Amino acid sequence: MKSTIVLLGPPGSGKGTQGEKLCSEFGYVKLSTGDMLREAVKNQTELGKKAKEYMDAGALVPNDLIIGLMKEKIKEANGKVILDGFPRTIEQADALSGQLEVDLALNLDVADEELVKRITMRRSCPDCGAVYHLLWNAPKADGVCDKCGAKLYQRDDDTEATVLNRLKTYREKTLPLVEYYGKKGKLVTVEGVGSIDEIYEKVKKIVQ
Ligand code: AP5
Repeated sequence: MKSTIVLLGPPGSGKGTQGEKLCSEFGYVKLSTGDMLREAVKNQTELGKKAKEYMDAGALVPNDLIIGLMKEKIKEANGKVILDGFPRTIEQADALSGQLEVDLALNLDVADEELVKRITMRRSCPDCGAVYHLLWNAPKADGVCDKCGAKLYQRDDDTEATVLNRLKTYREKTLPLVEYYGKKGKLVTVEGVGSIDEIYEKVKKIVQ
C-alpha cells in the first residue's frame, strides 16, 4: 500500500472525489490546499484575505503563502497521507521533496470539455466539504448535504469564465509536474472518464 500519494490532474478531474473514497476505505489523511484556503477565506484570516483575489481570478496563490502552511500540516499528519492540490508548481514539489518521499503521483486525465461540465454543475457543502454534481452525483434532497444537512453552495471560482482561467493556469504551472514525477518514476496516469466508481476501481488497484 502506497503511503504518500500526490493527486495530480486539472481542476474538476476528480482529485477530491477519489481522495475522499481512498480516505474512507484505507484511512489516509487527506490534505487539500483548496479546502484549507476556502476555510481561511470563510474565516477571514490574514491568509484568506490574501488568497481570495488569486482564487477568484483562477490564479495560483503565491508559493510563499502555501509552502509553509503545507509543511506544518504534513508534519502534523505523520502517517499515510494524500496530498490533493499540492504540489502545484515545480517550486512546491521541490519543497515537498525536502520533507518527505512521494510514493505515487496519481494523475487523473480528463478532457477540458468534460471538466467544464463537471465544475459548473458542482455543488459543495460549506460545513463538511462534501462535493456533489447536479446530474452525476446529486444529493438526495435538492440543495441539502446528505452527510450533514447543511445548505449546499456553488464555489465562487466555479463559474465558466474562472474555470477557463484555472485550466490555463493548470497548463502553465502544474502540468510540468507530470513530467517531473514521470522522470522520478513515480507517475501513474489514469483515464479519469467514466463513473466515479469505475474510476475508483482503477485507482484502488494502483494504490494497493
Ligand atoms: P482546488 O480546490 O484544489 O481546486 P482544483 O485543483 O481546481 O480542483 P477542484 O477542487 O476544482 O476539482 P477536483 O479535481 O478535486 O474535482 P472534484 O472531485 O471536486 O483549488 C482552488 C484554488 O485554490 C486554486 O485555483 C488556487 O487559486 C488555490 N490553490 C489550491 N492549491 C494551491 C496550491 N498548491 N498553490 C497555489 N494555489 C493553490 O470533482 C469535480 C466535480 O465533478 C464534482 O461535482 C464531482 O461530483 C464531479 N465528478 C467527479 N468525478 C466524476 C466522474 N467520474 N464523473 C462525473 N462527475 C464526476
